[in-house]
Amino acid sequence: MAQHSHKRTGRRPPILITQTEPRSAASEAYRMLRTNIQFAGLDQAPRNIVFTSTGPGEGKTTSVANFGVVAAEAGSRVCLIDSDLRRPALHRLFGLQNGRGLSTALLHGLPLAELAQPTATPNLSVLTSGPMPPNPAELVGSKRMRELFESAATDFDLVLCDSPPVISVTDGIALSAQCDGVVLVIRVGAIAHEAIRRAVEQIEAVKSRILGVLLNSVDLRRDGYYYKYYRYYRHYQGYYSENGKK
Ligand SMILES: Nc1ncnc2c1ncn2[C@@H]1O[C@H](COP(=O)(O)OP(=O)(O)OP(=O)(O)O)[C@@H](O)[C@H]1O
Ligand SMILES: [Mg+2]
Repeated sequence: MAQHSHKRTGRRPPILITQTEPRSAASEAYRMLRTNIQFAGLDQAPRNIVFTSTGPGEGKTTSVANFGVVAAEAGSRVCLIDSDLRRPALHRLFGLQNGRGLSTALLHGLPLAELAQPTATPNLSVLTSGPMPPNPAELVGSKRMRELFESAATDFDLVLCDSPPVISVTDGIALSAQCDGVVLVIRVGAIAHEAIRRAVEQIEAVKSRILGVLLNSVDLRRDGYYYKYYRYYRHYQGYYSENGKK
């Protein structure tokens, strides 16, 4: 994925470059990814896809949102789900309320279409995260999550899930087990190969299929992104104990 151009000041929100610069090289790359995934060699086109990465800040949210835009533009009925319940971002990116969302739907067993919100892009809806629950990994790995995907089949052709990094918490793996496939976002040069290999092993261990790897080229360290991110996770209780790496 080509690097978007922007000023390097503070932590930037993810960018919907496919809307602001639809003719850019980056937008074209998202369209290519869509085509590649459509023909990923499966008997049936995947309907539920989770975007994840090994480490933080590799570009999951940016990638899933832009991928959603190009897929909707190509005529698919798309719903993005913010399943990064700990650090949700899609509501802000699309300017949506987040009083109710995925956590609400899972707690009450509601169908996806009931809480998904339309966006400015035709054919593109977003199910925001909803309030943060005490047990995110358990919720996204639950039977209710599978039922939510099943409930989506009549209203949407494609459901794309954002998720937290694999290295930090188990949510992404739990979710991968429920989906048809995974897109692994890798920020070039950011993470040791060994860590990526472990993430791939974890994904494969739950019998999930990696549909594609999205190589994202962007230098984030210059603007202190990592510092801010880790500070955030230090405040999260249970982050270490959850994946047993205390
Ligand atoms: N291809 C790109 N070009 C330029 N900037 C990018 C690109 N991809 C991501 N970014 C920027 O990098 C930062 C992190 O991206 P993003 O929030 O999408 O990552 P993430 O993997 O979702 O992070 P987190 O692990 O915190 O959820 C954002 O400021 C985003 O705008
Ligand atoms: Mg994110």
